[in-house]
Amino acid sequence: MNHGLEYNRQLLLLGAKRNAVLELSEVQRYGTDSYGDPDYVTIYGLRPADWFAKGVRLLGRTAVECTRDELANAVGKEIAAIAASGAEAAHVVLDPFAGSGNTLYWILRHLPGARATGFELDPKVFELTRANLSILGLPVTILNADYASELSNVAPATDELLVTFIAPPWGEALSAKSGLDLRRTTPAVTEIVDLLTKQYRHNRLVCAVQVHERLDHAGVREITQRFDWSALSIFDLNPPGERHGLLLGTIGWVPRLGAAAANHA
Ligand SMILES: C[S@@+](CC[C@H](N)C(=O)[O-])C[C@H]1O[C@@H](n2cnc3c(N)ncnc32)[C@H](O)[C@@H]1O
Repeated sequence: MNHGLEYNRQLLLLGAKRNAVLELSEVQRYGTDSYGDPDYVTIYGLRPADWFAKGVRLLGRTAVECTRDELANAVGKEIAAIAASGAEAAHVVLDPFAGSGNTLYWILRHLPGARATGFELDPKVFELTRANLSILGLPVTILNADYASELSNVAPATDELLVTFIAPPWGEALSAKSGLDLRRTTPAVTEIVDLLTKQYRHNRLVCAVQVHERLDHAGVREITQRFDWSALSIFDLNPPGERHGLLLGTIGWVPRLGAAAANHA
C-alpha cells in the first residue's frame, strides 16, 4: 500500500514528527512502514489500538525510543532473577532515562512491591509519560530531571537492593563498523555507572544496561571492570543483526547463581 510519506525512524525520531503527539493511525503506520506490523509499538502490555483507547499518548520520538513489551519483559525477567538471588527483602528500582516508562512497568511486573522512580529530561516526554502511567495506575514516581541532578531523591535503606536500568540515548554510539560503544552514548554508560556507584556507595546495586548485539568490546570491558559480577544476554526477539540485549552487573555483591546461569561477560 502506498501511504505517500513513509513513517520511519528518521521521520519520528529526528524529523517533523519528533515532538508531535501521534494519532493512532500514525503509530500503526510507523509499525507497518518500518516493520510490517501495525502493532509494533505494543507497550504497557497493550497493542496500540488498546493503549490509545485508554487515553495513552506518545510523541514520535518515544514511539521509536521506547523499549517495547517483548524486550522490556525479557529485561524484567532477567533483573528479577538476579534480584531474587540477593538476600534483601525489599527492592528499589531506578530508571534514570525513563522515556515511556515501559521498562519500569515491566520491571515492576517482575518485582512487585518494589518502590520505583524514573527521571526524564525532556518536558514533553515527561508530561505524557506521567499522564500515561497515571492512566494505567502504575505506582511510579516520575521526575522531570536530568538523571544526575536528582539522585538524592532516591535513597534506598542500606538493606535494600537498588536496581538501576540504564538505557540512555545511543546517539552516535552505534557504529556500523565497531558496534555499540558504551563509552559514547549520551551520557556515556561509563559516566552513569561511576555516578551511581559514588552516590549509592552504601548500597548493593544491580546495573542493567540495554545493549545491541553488535558491541564494541573495549567499551564493554570498561564497564565490566567496574562490576563485581556481570553477564551478557542477547535476546532472540529481532532478526539477526538487529537484536538487543542486556549487560547485567552487580556492585557491592555477587549473586548466588546455579552454574548454568553463571555466564560471565
Ligand atoms: C532510549 S530512551 C529510554 C526508553 C525507555 N527505556 C522506555 O522504555 O521507553 C532515553 C530517554 O532518556 C531521556 N534522557 C536523555 N538524556 C537524559 C538525561 N540526562 N536525564 C534524564 N533523561 C534523559 C530521553 O529524553 C529519552 O526519553
